[in-house]
Parts: sequence; C-alpha cells; structure tokens
Amino acid sequence: MAWEAETARKPFSEVSLDSVLETMPPKISHSPLTVPLSNGSVLTIPRRDLFDARFQLISQGTGDVEGPESAELMSALQFLDNPSDLVPLVYEGGLKTWECSVDLATYLSGIDYGARSTKTRILEIGCGTAIPTLYILHSIFSSPPSKEREIHVHLQDYNASVLQLITIPNIILTWYHSSAVRTFRSGGLEDHAESALNITPQLLDTFRKSLETYWVHIRLFSGSWESFDLGITGGRYDLVLTSETIYRLDSLPSLIHLMQRACHLDDDSGQYLCLVAAKAVYFGVGGGVAEFTQCVEATNQGARVETVLEKKSGVNRKVMSVQWL
Ligand SMILES: C[S@@+](CC[C@H](N)C(=O)[O-])C[C@H]1O[C@@H](n2cnc3c(N)ncnc32)[C@H](O)[C@@H]1O
Repeated sequence: MAWEAETARKPFSEVSLDSVLETMPPKISHSPLTVPLSNGSVLTIPRRDLFDARFQLISQGTGDVEGPESAELMSALQFLDNPSDLVPLVYEGGLKTWECSVDLATYLSGIDYGARSTKTRILEIGCGTAIPTLYILHSIFSSPPSKEREIHVHLQDYNASVLQLITIPNIILTWYHSSAVRTFRSGGLEDHAESALNITPQLLDTFRKSLETYWVHIRLFSGSWESFDLGITGGRYDLVLTSETIYRLDSLPSLIHLMQRACHLDDDSGQYLCLVAAKAVYFGVGGGVAEFTQCVEATNQGARVETVLEKKSGVNRKVMSVQWL
C-alpha cells in the first residue's frame, strides 16, 4: 500500500491559501451538518461531501504529480473511501467530522471567546473538517465588518491534502452561506443550487475581498505537532482549539507541548483560552480524558484541566479548558 513506505513524521510546512484556491475544482457539492447552539437553536453548517473530494482527486489525475506530494494524494484517495481509518503518522483522520468537534462549536456558541477584541489569534490544532473554526467564521461573517477587529485564523492538520480538499472548501462554503455574501451578491454573484456551489474566478475573488473586508487572515499549516514552528506562525495565540486529538498515547506529549507553547510562552502573561474536546475513552487506541489530564499535569505541574461541557448521551464526551501555570 502507498503508506507503507512512509515512516518519518511529516515536517512542518505552510500550505499557501492562494495555491489551494488556485486548485479548487469548478464545483463543490456539500451536505448540511447540524450544530446545536447553547441557546437551544441550531446552526446548519455546509460541509463538502467526501465523494466530491474523491472526484476532484481522480479528475486532477493524482498520478501526474510526482514525489511526496503524489504519495500524500494517493493516500488521501485511499482514505477518502475509509475516512474513519487512522494510520499513525500517515493519515490521522482529518477527512471525517468527529463528533466532539460539534460539541466544541456548541460550547463556543455560549461563551465570549474573544473574537470581539481588536486582534485575536486563533489556532485550531488537528482541524480536519474544522467545525469549531467554521462556527467562529460563520459568526464573524454574520456580523457587520469592523476595522477595529482583526482575526488571525490558523489551521493545522497533519495532512496537507486534508487542508486542500476539505478544510478550505468548508470555509468557502461557510462564507458563501453567511450574510457576508449578501453584500457581495449585488456585485453579480449568481445563486447556486442548494447542494453544490460553482467555484468561479469571480466567486474566489469575492471570497478574497471578503476576507480583507472582515479583516480575517487565514493561514494553513501541515505536519507533525512536534515540528509546529511558532516562530514562523507569529507566536502565541489567544484561543487554542482542538478536538478528537488525544486518542493516541504516543502523540499526547507533542500535542500537549504544542498547546502549552501556543497559549503561553515563558516571557508572556497574555490572556488565552485553551479548549480540548474529546471522548472520555478511546477504546482500542489507549488515549482518553484521564490519560490526557495525567500527561498535562506531568508536563506542567500546576496546570489545571477543567471540564466545561459534558455530554453523556452515547459515548461520554467532554469539552475541557486547560490553564497552564
Ligand atoms: C481524529 S482527527 C480529528 C479531526 C477534527 N478535529 C474533528 O474533530 O473532526 C485527528 C486530527 O489530528 C491531527 N493529528 C493527529 N496526530 C497528529 C500528529 N502527531 N501531528 C499533527 N497532527 C496530528 C490529524 O491531522 C487530524 O486532523
């Protein structure tokens, strides 16, 4: 299989938003995901269909690309058929939406997470389909733009192909279904069928302009957590989010180390919010909330992990807030 040859952890790399926009297919199809909000209402978020991402890969001819990029795309093709499969350090599950990401969006809907501050830096670690970030962007694009509010949204996934095939298409879909677009529709953007969006040069141009108007700066990073370079990404964040990333004991130290560095640098005492959504137990994989808490406390004596939301229906799930000392 394509992934057997790969053993080394993927290195940190920035994936340029422009290059992802340039390789968008002419149409993306999507289905709705329902996010319960803390006020009892629901938000419907459009997500790209996996069969559509698969179609893009096939029609772009993954075989035409050479080197590591080709291996990455070949394995993306493989995993699009089995999005729940996790193959450590090859494909880590980002193509599929995992249920705790919805819990995290629900939790965010009930708190002030700081997006009204003058400058907010947000990092979603292990973003995949990026539901918490989509919730935040939906809120931003649904309020009037303000010059006094600048938002830096950084998205990290182990696999660059996930950022390209799923994360950015989802962001475009969220933007397109927000009230921000109404302002631009008068500029001639056509209406689209409910389940598919035509990606025209005009639409992409309007998306770019919208980001500028709303002062939203998006950057994408792939690679392993231990290689994540805060020097390149611009330092600490005000809001660090992660969901369904604590499943494997082996990767807990690198995840926790990144979360800690991303919130709290040694010479810095800024305010931050660090939220982790996870199942209480990941059967058969080893990780879970207890192991995560132990590892946080072993890494940073004095750090506090507090449960801020708990879901007991089905598998027990939690949203936790971490305070580093
Ligand atoms: C199970 S998926 C969860 C995706 C998404 N947060 C959700 O809840 O739907 C785990 C995510 O963590 C990332 N990930 C897992 N292990 C990683 C590692 N060692 N280094 C970097 N990223 C990793 C993967 O890329 C993937 O996006």
